[in-house]
Amino acid sequence: ILISGRGSNMVALVEAARLETYPAEIVGVISNKPNAAGLEKAQALNIPTAVIDHTDYSDRETFEQDLHEKLLALEAELVCCAGFMRVLTPWFVSRWENRLINIHPSLLPKYKGLQTHQRAIDAGDKETGCSVHWVTEDLDAGAVILQESVQIAPHDTAELLAARLLPIELSLYPEALEIVASKLRSPQ
Ligand code: GRF
Repeated sequence: ILISGRGSNMVALVEAARLETYPAEIVGVISNKPNAAGLEKAQALNIPTAVIDHTDYSDRETFEQDLHEKLLALEAELVCCAGFMRVLTPWFVSRWENRLINIHPSLLPKYKGLQTHQRAIDAGDKETGCSVHWVTEDLDAGAVILQESVQIAPHDTAELLAARLLPIELSLYPEALEIVASKLRSPQ
């Protein structure tokens, strides 16, 4: 699981994966930010953690090469981005093709990128939501695995929407990983 911050989706995935019947095991959590709050949460859950600080690298690809090496060392077969705030290059994405998923706080294909809730409010949308999707070369453009919507009330703010969506994300992501992992074949 790749994180950059709070790590609540990561915790939800770790907890789901503890169930005996769940088809995935969480082998590690990697953060690109040394101070991500999620790192301590992962450690408290006895999940191996690593920091690969993108500011130590002069370009995206050398950062991603180390990230890739670390994933191989962990024997990861599937990568879940969970609040991971780095755009991944085609180099990395092609190495993890069909093995790389993300959770995004909008009803994709609407509102790729940042400030999704504010953009939905500004557009006068009646609903927004979250999507778990495959990561492809184009940002937030891969096929949706699962998504769920919430209504936007007249006086909603981006903060209120994010808070209302969080519990939905925390059940949607484990459900999506379950679908993906149960279909995954081991690397050749
Ligand atoms: C989530 O809202 C997710 O949709 C977005 O970033 C947030 C991450 O939260 N990509 P957390 O780090 O899982 O608590």
